[in-house]
Amino acid sequence: MTNDFTIDNVFPWGRALAEYTQMFALSEKELQSSILDCGGGPSSFNSEQYNAGNLVISCDPIYQFTAEQIQNRIQATYPLIMEGLQVNYDKFVWQDITSPEHLAEVRMSAMKKFLKDFPEGLKQGRYLNVSLPNLPFTNQQFDIALCSHFLFTYSQEFSLEFHLQSILEMCRVAKDVRVFPLVEIFTGAVSPHLNPIITRLRDRGYQVNIEQVEYEFQINGNQMLHLY
Ligand SMILES: C[S@@+](CC[C@H](N)C(=O)[O-])C[C@H]1O[C@@H](n2cnc3c(N)ncnc32)[C@H](O)[C@@H]1O
Repeated sequence: MTNDFTIDNVFPWGRALAEYTQMFALSEKELQSSILDCGGGPSSFNSEQYNAGNLVISCDPIYQFTAEQIQNRIQATYPLIMEGLQVNYDKFVWQDITSPEHLAEVRMSAMKKFLKDFPEGLKQGRYLNVSLPNLPFTNQQFDIALCSHFLFTYSQEFSLEFHLQSILEMCRVAKDVRVFPLVEIFTGAVSPHLNPIITRLRDRGYQVNIEQVEYEFQINGNQMLHLY
């Protein structure tokens, strides 16, 4: 994935509401608050929340494409992702998700829910073709802004400055910001951007915590950055 966004750079791999709830330690009350999902991709978080009567706005440049284009890309990248999982098998916790095949089932089920909801959600303005680090919202418009598996995950492709500007922008539009995980994809190493980001945000007066959460699929990927 690079800053020059084309669908050929994306490996669509979406997570479900149950995973978001654990990754971000979201309470029932928080799930009912106004939530922005940055880099929401083909996750079913938005659609499952909508069906539960809760409103999420999801932002992602992938939403400039049609459901059919996204589905084709999911099919094209599926074997590559499965191969990557086999090669990096030892870097994951095979507990709640017991095998690569089980993971594929969980992810494909989430992505099917997304694809079904996407055309209607797009019309309703729940899915927006918007890219970090610029968000077209007013100050403190949302209660919570989330970012799952984009910031820190792709630290090799996106600079420290990009991370800083993105998180500052999320803090501008939401009262509470949560980013998960803090480790990079595949290597599983803690993002080299993490400590410089924490220092720079604290220098600007933000309350910044690293909090342990119940979700752990990448080994040591069980912490979120929490700002408020
Ligand atoms: C691995 S997916 C994560 C999807 C979802 N958050 C989840 O956890 O299931 C990463 C997403 O980041 C999106 N992305 C890439 N560049 C972005 C940008 N500048 N701003 C927001 N999202 C971006 C990609 O299109 C992709 O959908």
